[in-house]
Amino acid sequence: MLRNITLYAEADYTAMSVRAAAIFAEAVKEKPTAVYGFATGSTPEGMYRELAKLRENGADFSDITTFNLDEYHPIKPSDPQSYAYYMKERVFGPLGITKTNLPDGTAADPAAECVAYERKLASAGEVAMQILGIGNNGHIGFNEPSDTFACQASHVPLAQATIEANARFFEDASQVPRHALTMGLHAIMMAKRILLLASGEGKAQILAQALTGPITPRVPASILQLHPCVTVVADKTAFSAAAFGAMAFGAMAFSATAFNAAGAPL
Ligand code: PGA
Repeated sequence: MLRNITLYAEADYTAMSVRAAAIFAEAVKEKPTAVYGFATGSTPEGMYRELAKLRENGADFSDITTFNLDEYHPIKPSDPQSYAYYMKERVFGPLGITKTNLPDGTAADPAAECVAYERKLASAGEVAMQILGIGNNGHIGFNEPSDTFACQASHVPLAQATIEANARFFEDASQVPRHALTMGLHAIMMAKRILLLASGEGKAQILAQALTGPITPRVPASILQLHPCVTVVADKTAFSAAAFGAMAFGAMAFSATAFNAAGAPL
């Protein structure tokens, strides 16, 4: 089950960020004009900071095209809570990226915006690498747990767990937008390579479930088990033996390529 997954278990958040940045920068070095899928949230912030350092040391991200996973709706790009704002401030500016795409949080017709966004993504060509975080409830993008896998881009109500998790970025939970526009699982699965980041104890259980549990729309990230090329970079609190358990470790010991912080196979 895990043959397709390369797992880096890093010592801490910084090491996770450095590792993920190195993997992403290497991908861009190989394909400097390709399309890359970007994610927001607190997990990849460190990776973006490390990428900015790599840029100061000569890495060039200026020719890539980016598509973000999702955006709140409705929200203006000038709103500091919008993902458009996050990306401009923390990623596009610091990395010198100009060919950028996000779902339009101001779209009057969100369903039409989803169709248009997906078309734009399809016509841009293959996504060389899709960066992902994982929600506490196993969501990727804003594809929330459900009875069916959400294949297409869609305008979705946020799960209560997501509203609560994201309340930390707002004054209180009542300020969190109730809807979002998200890339669907089909587009995510079509990326040539997935780079999934996870940090902190709070993600340990869901990460283990996603990577080693049943493939189910109740844990949307579990669909990644079917992707041919997934790299997971987790810090050691997210990659916890307790959460992965004997079952998973048994499977992993022979079927996954897992490394510890020093790069030695686990
Ligand atoms: P986080 O969010 O990085 O802020 O924990 C991850 C996600 O919801 O995908």
